[in-house]
Amino acid sequence: MLKTTHRALLLGALGALLLHLQGVAADDRAIGAEAFDRACSGCHGDPPVPRALTRAQLAALPPEKIFQAQLSGLMALQAAALTEIEKKAVAIYLSDTEWGTVKMEKAAEKLAMCTGSSAVTAADFERPKWIGWGLDLDNSRFQPGDQAGLTAADLANLELKWVHGYAGATTVTTQPAVVGDHIFIGSPNGAIYNLDRKTGCAYWKYDTAAEVRAAIVVAPRADGTIGLYAGDRKANFYALDANSGKLLWQDRVEPHPWSMITSSPVLYEGKLYFGTASFEELAGGSKKYECCTFRGSVLAYDAESGKKLWQSYVIPGEPQKTKVTTEGVQLWGPSGAAVWSSPTLDPAHNTLYVTTGDSYSAPAADTSDAIVAMDMTTGAIKWFKQMTADDAFTAACVAPNADPVSKEGCGPDVDFGASAILRTLPNGKRLLLAGQKSGVMHAVDPDADGAIVWQKRLSPGGVLGGIEWGFAADDTHLYVPISDVWETKHAPGAAGGIYALNFADGSELWNTPAAKPDCNDIPGCNAGQPAAATLIPGVVFSGSMDGHMRAYDPASGKVIWDVDTKGEHATVNGVPAHGGSIKGAGVTVVNGWVYFGSGYGLFGMPGNMFMAFGPKGD
Ligand code: HEC
Repeated sequence: MLKTTHRALLLGALGALLLHLQGVAADDRAIGAEAFDRACSGCHGDPPVPRALTRAQLAALPPEKIFQAQLSGLMALQAAALTEIEKKAVAIYLSDTEWGTVKMEKAAEKLAMCTGSSAVTAADFERPKWIGWGLDLDNSRFQPGDQAGLTAADLANLELKWVHGYAGATTVTTQPAVVGDHIFIGSPNGAIYNLDRKTGCAYWKYDTAAEVRAAIVVAPRADGTIGLYAGDRKANFYALDANSGKLLWQDRVEPHPWSMITSSPVLYEGKLYFGTASFEELAGGSKKYECCTFRGSVLAYDAESGKKLWQSYVIPGEPQKTKVTTEGVQLWGPSGAAVWSSPTLDPAHNTLYVTTGDSYSAPAADTSDAIVAMDMTTGAIKWFKQMTADDAFTAACVAPNADPVSKEGCGPDVDFGASAILRTLPNGKRLLLAGQKSGVMHAVDPDADGAIVWQKRLSPGGVLGGIEWGFAADDTHLYVPISDVWETKHAPGAAGGIYALNFADGSELWNTPAAKPDCNDIPGCNAGQPAAATLIPGVVFSGSMDGHMRAYDPASGKVIWDVDTKGEHATVNGVPAHGGSIKGAGVTVVNGWVYFGSGYGLFGMPGNMFMAFGPKGD
């Protein structure tokens, strides 16, 4: 943007004078420029690595926000080598806004506290509810009619009831839990809230070490109290008392410094199962980084005591030294195969299934981009089926100035991000359905070590392509939204779309192409559909990068409801909020109400809202 070019000039001969006029010490800019080159430009250069912000996007942030991101936020590790003065200098150098002119909302955000008190009781679990990611052990993301309390005919009667604003946030991808009169919800600023589901007022807040975006699980405990279970993006797992917000137990589940949890926990017979993922794929874009040593894993915990029962690495072998870059940096492998998604449980066979991400190191591990079956008691791998071989990918693969040795053996970056769905056919045969960023839907036989039954390509796929965060299923069909946000963003109308497939054979019932993007002329904006789908009888919900939440008729694919979340909205908690692109989690539907977040600052339009829609008159 103009301002960015200006900044380069400012560092030239006239710079000192202009900076003086701006009231900013020239030294700060020079220190900031040097520190940015050293610690940040490898990823935030021109062009940036996938998922990283452009210079223009960084310039649009207040300097206090950029400082905070380095001090204790998402960029803390990336900025670890910088002094605090350098961190501040980088922030001042990057931002178009002057330091101290924007009043930063404290990251611990404002809440409108409820006046009365209200508790979740064991009886509330008999009422309509939403708990976890997949809603059932099969991970169908199908909310039955008695729980949803909503039909296609009711959509026209929905109105916006309340909005929660997340202070300073640009991305909102949280999948809440709803039990009784309460909604338990994660914050991109690092917190969990207990809100009143009808008014949005707050009963308590618990501060976590990092963003909570994986679905939250709530369940009664042995002593009659109600437990809440959630993981954060620094790989901490928490058990709280759902009524007081007090910590019951906590564990850092994986020691690797770049690890995180995006995999929603599944609670079954007192045990919690979830996976670990990492940011190391992005760290690999830095020339100085000894890439890579993280390995995805699945963990089982005792929900009562917090005891770790097992941790099973998807790549069994420990990373060893491999090559050395032209600049003398040691590389390591095997690594990668992050478990981004929530496990699918098959207790009748004492088996759980996870899908895995790409490898970080070449040669790629044969359990990357794979479906992996594990023993529920021990975590031992029973079988695995790799869908894309030789897919070693880090940010180095797309960074123009990366070391050539780091670029050797680069693959297409076609992780599995979506959970597998387990289904049974009328003849009793079972299928495991897994949708990949490659754009391919795979059906395998879980009772024949993952033998392929059918495969169908739905889109070109790629780095942010194909099937991204999730699809949904009823008894006959799959409803599969398509992302392709990165790959086809420059061809308007090319990203996005949604398919209905008969899961018995993969045949297509209908496909509805992406809507004409409605992006306020933002360059590169598109109508890709990376967010997970949610299904209720008669309605499929799918959010889009153009800020629309759309509902489709599962029989015909016709759009039957369409809400544009863009623009400013008044909030319950008084934080200024606006909507943006929608990605990640899907819609939560309970008892006639519909909840979802809006905002995805990295590839589309930032936003900081969580919205609740309910029937007029309720
Ligand atoms: C290894 C690659 C990499 C490096 C090095 C890196 N970044 Fe980032 N940065 C990213 C990615 C990727 C994201 C998006 C992370 C996400 O939201 O998942 C990001 C996000 C950010 C954000 C937004 C944070 C938020 O809370 O939304 C800021 C600000 C930022 N980076 C600043 C910096 C600064 C300043 C440096 C240098 C000290 C730096 N980054 C170094 C990759 C990198």
